[in-house]
Amino acid sequence: MKMEAKKICLLAICVLFAIVSIADADSSTPVLVKKVKGKKVCDKGWECKGWSEYCCNLTISDYFDTYQFEELFAKRNSPVAHAAGFWDYKSFITASALYQPHGFGTTGNKTTQMKEVAAFLGHVGSQTSCGYGVATGGPTAWGLCYNKEMSPSQDYCDDYYKYTYPCAPGAGYYGRGALPIYWQYNYGKIGEALKVDLLNHPEYIEQNATLAFQAAIHRWLTPMKKGQPSAHEAFVGTWKPTKNDTLAKRYPGFGTTMNVLYGDRTCGKGDNDDMNTVVSHYLYYLDLMGVGREEGGPHEVLTCAEQEPFNPSAPTQASSR
Ligand SMILES: *[C@@H]1O[C@H](CO)[C@@H](O)[C@H](O)[C@H]1NC(C)=O
Ligand SMILES: *[C@@H]1O[C@H](CO)[C@@H](O)[C@H](O)[C@H]1NC(C)=O
Ligand SMILES: *[C@@H]1O[C@H](CO)[C@@H](O)[C@H](O)[C@H]1NC(C)=O
Ligand SMILES: *[C@@H]1O[C@H](CO)[C@@H](O)[C@H](O)[C@H]1NC(C)=O
Repeated sequence: MKMEAKKICLLAICVLFAIVSIADADSSTPVLVKKVKGKKVCDKGWECKGWSEYCCNLTISDYFDTYQFEELFAKRNSPVAHAAGFWDYKSFITASALYQPHGFGTTGNKTTQMKEVAAFLGHVGSQTSCGYGVATGGPTAWGLCYNKEMSPSQDYCDDYYKYTYPCAPGAGYYGRGALPIYWQYNYGKIGEALKVDLLNHPEYIEQNATLAFQAAIHRWLTPMKKGQPSAHEAFVGTWKPTKNDTLAKRYPGFGTTMNVLYGDRTCGKGDNDDMNTVVSHYLYYLDLMGVGREEGGPHEVLTCAEQEPFNPSAPTQASSR
């Protein structure tokens, strides 16, 4: 009798322990764990909240630290950078916290997780770089130099959407953000998703780095069209190519993320500067993060040089850059 009570008590303590304090060795946040329909789900507090199986894995700040962000974007606060003082590590992690429970940076093993962050930031770095030609540190050292288009060649207000996404008088629609948003309907759609009135206030994106990163991660996680993968799915391999995809040389990997995000501006044109710039940022970040560029994979996975674009006319923001 006595023995049994002791056993039960020990068991109770064990269960309690399992629930409240399976903390990472180096993290002070307790990890909450439970089983839902036989699946282990976790809640890690602010960075990965909401009972998700992804939250049982490492979070982004577990494997990607401030000093690494500083290395990747070493020149962003130099006096000649156009957005000096704007971008920082904290805004990236804060923005990512919304999406880590959905698998952003938390899918698969640690290598896959680090590669996704390098891939996403590779896009961001290449789209916000001012490191042309012989800039000190090389062209890849200048990511996050911009947070907006400096001299827009046009107002990106498309009359076709004048009823669904009417341009606000006085609002300027031009490229802003970490993966720049151009057209008013893209501000409108992303604003709906983030519950922020970006259609009427596109300027919020250049005023708030957390919001700018949120918009970029949202785009990374969202397919352009039904039946197509998001850049995230194409990258982490949860997307299974159809026969048509394989015929079009679209394989899971970094190349297909460019196909999703930029379409025929970048893909299906052989080796071109636009594509090589994105790829070189990704490879550079893989090296800096200690993963190593050899993890980038073979040419047909890494690039989209031979890929048929998902959306041939690419009626997207990116096409008009
Ligand atoms: C969590 O990580 C493990 C290996 O580290 C991986 O096998 C698993 O797929 C990951 N979970 C999810 C939901 O991606
Ligand atoms: C991580 O996952 C990838 C993809 O599933 C796999 O190819 C690789 O071997 C894994 N790496 C380790 C260290 O387990
Ligand atoms: C910036 O955007 C984030 C995310 O939408 C929001 O939580 C925060 O309050 C904003 N900051 C300011 C100063 O408006
Ligand atoms: C595959 O490609 C063919 C030819 O381009 C097209 O007619 C067909 O609808 C495609 N099938 C799917 C499932 O997308």
